[in-house]
Amino acid sequence: MSSIAHLRDIADLTADDVRNLLSRAAFFKDALKHKKDVSHKHRGKVALSFFVENSTRTRISFEMAALRLGVSVINWDSASSSLSKGESFEDTIETLASIAPDILVMRHSEYNAPRSVARYMNCPVVNGGDSYRAHPTQALLDLMTIQEHKGDVSKLKVAICGDIAHSRVARSNAELLDLLGADIHMVAPEYLMPQELPYKNATAYTDLNEGIKDCDVVMMLRLQKERMTQGLITSDHDYFAQFGLTHERLEHAKQGAMVMHPGPMNRGVEIDDAVADDPNVSLIRAQVANGVPMRMAVLDWLLEKNEA
Ligand code: NCD
Repeated sequence: MSSIAHLRDIADLTADDVRNLLSRAAFFKDALKHKKDVSHKHRGKVALSFFVENSTRTRISFEMAALRLGVSVINWDSASSSLSKGESFEDTIETLASIAPDILVMRHSEYNAPRSVARYMNCPVVNGGDSYRAHPTQALLDLMTIQEHKGDVSKLKVAICGDIAHSRVARSNAELLDLLGADIHMVAPEYLMPQELPYKNATAYTDLNEGIKDCDVVMMLRLQKERMTQGLITSDHDYFAQFGLTHERLEHAKQGAMVMHPGPMNRGVEIDDAVADDPNVSLIRAQVANGVPMRMAVLDWLLEKNEA
C-alpha cells in the first residue's frame, strides 16, 4: 500500500513533479480552450469526493476536472452520511476503502486528516484542504497563475498577506514558492503571524505597506474567523484600516504588480471592492479558472502513476 502516490501536501512533490504538473495543466488548459475532448484518458474510473468541510470552488473544480477526464464522481454527502448517525471517522473511512474508488479527494477540518485517511485507502488520496495546515492544489493553481502572468517565480517577490496564522493556503503557497526559489514576504499583523516561518526564502513583515514593497505579486488571505477562538479581531472596520488592500496601498508594490486571493473574499475586510474587481490588477477569476486544468493535471498524474 505504501507505494501508492498521494498529494497530501507540498512535501509529497519534488520540483520536477511540480514542473510536470504545470506542463500537464497547460496541456489541459489548451484542450479545454479548444474544446478538445480528453475524456478517453480515464474513462471508467471512479473518484470519491469526500468533503467533510464546506467548499465551493475546490469541490466543484475537482468535480469538473474529474468529469472532463472521463472520471465519474461520487459525492459523499455529510448530512446524509452515517457520520451524522454517530459512526466513528475510522469506521467511515474503512467503509469508503472497501467500496474501493480509484481516487479519493478530501477536505477535512482536522490537522493532517489526509495522512491518516491515506493509510486506509488502496488508492491515491488528494488533499482539498485540511485544517490550517495544507491546501496543495490551491498552491499549484496559484503558481500556474503567477507564472502565466509574471514568468519564472524564482525571479519574483511574492507577498502573502493577512491571516497567515490560520491559513492553509498561506502554508502551502509558502512551501511551494520556497521549493522553487521565489523571494517570499510573509505579511501579517503580529497577532496573526505564526511564531516560526520554516521557509528558506521567507521574511516576515508586520506592516502591509512595507511588506508589499517592490513585490510582483500581492496575495491577500481571508480573515478566518471560524478558526479564531479568542476574538482576535475586534472590528472588521479596524482590520481593513490596518490591513485591507486598497489601490492606494497597492502603490507600494512594484509597478504592474498583480493581486491574488484564493476566495472566498471578505470584501471590505481584507480587500477593497475596487481592487478585487479591477481587471488590470486582479487575478482572482484567473485563479478560479485555473483550478480546473490544474486539478485535471493532479488527477491525471496520480491515476497514471497508480496504473504503472
Ligand atoms: C480557501 C480554503 O478553503 O482553504 N479557499 C479555497 O479553497 N479556495 C481559503 C479560505 O477558506 O479562506
